[in-house]
Formats: sequence, C-alpha cells, structure tokens
Amino acid sequence: PTALAGRHLLKELDFTEEEFRGLVELAADLKAAKKGGIEPRYLQGRNIALIFEKTSTRTRCAFEVAAADQGASTTYLDPFGSQIGHKESVKDTARVLGRMYDAIEYRGDSQQKVEELAAYAGVPVYNGLTDDWHPTQMLADVLTMTEHCAKPLSEISFAYLGDARFNMGNSYLVTGALLGMDVRLVAPKAYWPAEEIVERAHALAVTSGARITLTETVDEGVRGADFVATDVWVSMGEPKEVWAERITALAPYAVTMDVLRATGNPDVKFLHCLPAFHDLGTRVGQEIHAAYGLEYLEVSDEVFESAHSVVFDEAENRMHTIKAVMVATLA
Ligand code: CP
Ligand code: NVA
Repeated sequence: PTALAGRHLLKELDFTEEEFRGLVELAADLKAAKKGGIEPRYLQGRNIALIFEKTSTRTRCAFEVAAADQGASTTYLDPFGSQIGHKESVKDTARVLGRMYDAIEYRGDSQQKVEELAAYAGVPVYNGLTDDWHPTQMLADVLTMTEHCAKPLSEISFAYLGDARFNMGNSYLVTGALLGMDVRLVAPKAYWPAEEIVERAHALAVTSGARITLTETVDEGVRGADFVATDVWVSMGEPKEVWAERITALAPYAVTMDVLRATGNPDVKFLHCLPAFHDLGTRVGQEIHAAYGLEYLEVSDEVFESAHSVVFDEAENRMHTIKAVMVATLA
C-alpha cells in the first residue's frame, strides 16, 4: 500500500506539500510507463463509480481511460440517470455505493455534498469539481508546469486572470501556496477569493515560502510569469443573466498577445482547464456573439492557437494525474 492508501481527494487543503508532489511524481511515472508500453496494472478487479451532477468531457474521460488502463471498471452516473439528488440523499447514496464500489468520483455544485459523501461512503471519494475546488485539475496543471518549465516548482511563477472566486481561482491560490510557488491572482477586487481562503493561503505560505500576489493590475500581475492561466467567466450552474456583468468587469483581463508580451518572458506558456471561449463557434458561443458582438471571451484565439499554448498537454495530463490518484489511494 502507498502512503495515501484509503485517502479521499476532496480539496488541496487536505494535503501536505509532500503528498501533493508525490501524486504529481507518480503521475509522471505512470505517464512514462504508458508511453513506453510498460504500464503496470495496479487496479485489476477494482470498480469505480463516477457521479456527475454536472456535464464533463475531460474529467469523465480521464477517469474512464485511467481506470481501463489499470484494469478497473467504471460506472458512469449522469446528471439525470440515478436517484441522487431527486429521491435519495447523499448520505444514503454514499452508503449504497460504498458497498459496491472501491472508490467514488463526484462532480456537482456544493463542496459540502462531496464532503458528506466521503464521510459516509467508507471508500475513497474524489472531487471531480465543485463550485469551490477542482483538485484533480490542479494535479494536471502542476504536472504540465513541471513538463514545460525547467525550474524547480518553488521557483515557478504563474498568474491566473479572470473570475478568481470560483473553483479554479481558489484551487490555483491554495495549490501555489501549498507548493511554495509564486502565485498571482489578477482580477477586479470583487472577483478575488473569499477572505477565509486568502488567509489559509497566506498561512500555508509561511511554511512553504510561497509568494502570493492579489492585484487588479494586469501588467504588475503577469510581469516575469512563467505561466499565464485563465478560466471561463461564467461557470457551470450559473445563470446566463450574469454574462453581461462578467463581460464588463473581466474584459480587461482577457488573455491576449499583449498580456503575454507584458510578462516580458518570450517562453511564457498559456494554461486553461477547458472548455474555452477562444472563438465563439459553439452554440453557447454564438449566443454570446449575437448578444455582445465579441469574437472571444477569456482568451483570444491567437493565444489559444499559438506556440505558447499548452492546453492540450494539460488536458492529456488530466488522465495521467487522475490515474495517479486512483493508484495511490487504492493500490
Ligand atoms: N477541465 C475540466 O474539468 O473539463 P470537463 O468539464 O470537460 O471535465
Ligand atoms: N469554472 C469552470 C471550470 C470548468 C472545468 C466551471 O466550474 O464551470
């Protein structure tokens, strides 16, 4: 058994720096093994339940492929196809699935639900995204940063631009703080994380040596950064009425070539958890284009398609890192 056997992955705050780094290192090893055609199968005969109360492409596929690679089976429970949330409580669901499965992934809105699932399931529970945290995404982002920057993690700097009050902003802040990185959140003050989360990050920085910057000024926030990251301005579960206010407030924080130039780093890399509104060709994108006349939202197509962009490495790394989480907690 590994040091993380039996553990949940609910939020980054539950992990030590060493544990978090260990998961990223295990993911790198598993990735190399798969690429080399010598992947060991640590999860033969295991069964994993995947509860999705919100839609997903990457997270679901990452869990399914990672499990298959390792010899485990998965059951996908879609946002409408089970009793969860309609007829059956989280507590009862946890006790039922815990009798049949070796681990449970949960994606939904409230962090409290995934915590409750973990409290009653009796098996490891993995947070596949809540409104507050996206820990499996952070493992993939950190792996991607280590692959695209030769510096030790503690010397890497990254700037996150956009709505920093939600899962991605919170997770970047706490992950950077935990790992001793140079982390900058660049957004209007009203879009900064809750005071309590900022305080937790500062407390982590005392021991990790992290440098934490929250600023409204793009030039100051991105100067010298190794990575620039962003996320959608309206997250899953939010009403479409908020688009107007978000576009007004966050348009100055869109990641354009000017923003990348402002880093002063010709090798700066761009990260995005995806999906991204870099062009507005999708159905939702076209509605926004028709209403606001914009060509892109949080990132320009030029940046997204440029050599700076490592978003598809990042997406691939969701699979290797989620595999590491399952292997570390179940093998
Ligand atoms: N980045 C991410 O979580 O993508 P999905 O919503 O497609 O799972
Ligand atoms: N903030 C986004 C992230 C998607 C992966 C959302 O919650 O919809």
